[in-house]
Amino acid sequence: MIVDDLKVINYRNYEQAHLKFHPTLNIFIGDNAQGKTNLLEAIYVCSAGKSFRTKKDQELIKIDKDQSYIQVKLRKINGDVNIEVRLNSDKKKGIKVNKIHLLKISELLGNLNVVLFSPEDLKLVKEGPSERRKFMDREISQISNKYYYNLSQYNKILQHRNKLLKHSKGKKIDLEVWDEQLASAGAEIIFYRRNFTKKISLLSKLMHRKITESKETLKIIYDPNIKVKEDDEVSSIKQKILKKLQKNVDVDTYRGLTTVGPHRDDMKIIINDLDVKTYGSQGQQRTAVLSLKLAELELIKGEVGEYPVLLLDDVMSELDLSRQSYLINNLKNVQTFITTTMMDNIKELSSENRSIFTISKGQIY
Ligand SMILES: Nc1ncnc2c1ncn2[C@@H]1O[C@H](COP(=O)(O)OP(=O)(O)OP(=O)(O)O)[C@@H](O)[C@H]1O
Ligand SMILES: [Mg+2]
Repeated sequence: MIVDDLKVINYRNYEQAHLKFHPTLNIFIGDNAQGKTNLLEAIYVCSAGKSFRTKKDQELIKIDKDQSYIQVKLRKINGDVNIEVRLNSDKKKGIKVNKIHLLKISELLGNLNVVLFSPEDLKLVKEGPSERRKFMDREISQISNKYYYNLSQYNKILQHRNKLLKHSKGKKIDLEVWDEQLASAGAEIIFYRRNFTKKISLLSKLMHRKITESKETLKIIYDPNIKVKEDDEVSSIKQKILKKLQKNVDVDTYRGLTTVGPHRDDMKIIINDLDVKTYGSQGQQRTAVLSLKLAELELIKGEVGEYPVLLLDDVMSELDLSRQSYLINNLKNVQTFITTTMMDNIKELSSENRSIFTISKGQIY
């Protein structure tokens, strides 16, 4: 898919901007704090219905204004798509796809697929399991509405179960109805995560091998809180969750929260048999994330039939020259948006292969 056109009004530090994009490579160049990432973020908002930097929509609205508008025009295999997002200070945001008002954000997912790589993504290898769960959730939600639905259900039921446990003050309560629902949604989550990690592991292994010129082997392993077999169906996963919930009921009651389930899952990222989180060098950690992100491009292509767009925020300065040129030279089939403060590595590209936008104080030149 290709983003042809982006319009923003009263968004972040932009009063108004209208950009027409190159189908292959678009470069936002400028000093710090000029509005480069803001543009990637605007595209992202049209994909996910929210920012990747903040949960608060208010921060996206230009200071002193009370409404913000973002529009993306998209070319896909099956036709053109027009996505509009209106953010309001005083009421809920409004999202339209092809002029039709959406009732739920989940209806937006899958219209514009993006893969984002930003310095923040290093958290994926460096920090705790919740970052890796977020990664799985975001990526699987993009390709499966069913997953997104089950995840929201699971979180709602989990919250409720935890509240009941907390208020029970250590006394036994009847959780049967909740456990049943929690296990149903949880089983779907585990099923999807297991299949996703298997696919992403294969693809990222290939990517990593290319980027490191076969020096390293990358492996991604799903590390679920409730152990499941490779061929377990949803129904047997559900039984396993129920069993574990029942087994842990005393602990849960005592602690006032749910101690087992996919909200405790993790994903291991391993290079040459060592966990990258503990043993990886900075460069290895970065490259592992890069391989994962490039693998996602292929995974989404396989699932939805066309490549997503790739948003690379400040990534160039973090990679060595050979990895930078690998990136630029191997993304010919994927529309890519890059932010950078330096011109160095882009100079070698001929001008018909890309568009350059110079960004200064919320103005585009
Ligand atoms: N709601 C807002 N209203 C007005 N200005 C804002 C708003 N939100 C952010 N800004 C401004 O946007 C600028 C940051 O934009 P952005 O994050 O896109 O910078 P950048 O060009 O990516 O910089 P860097 O190279 O440091 O990453 C800051 O100057 C910030 O003050
Ligand atoms: Mg930035």
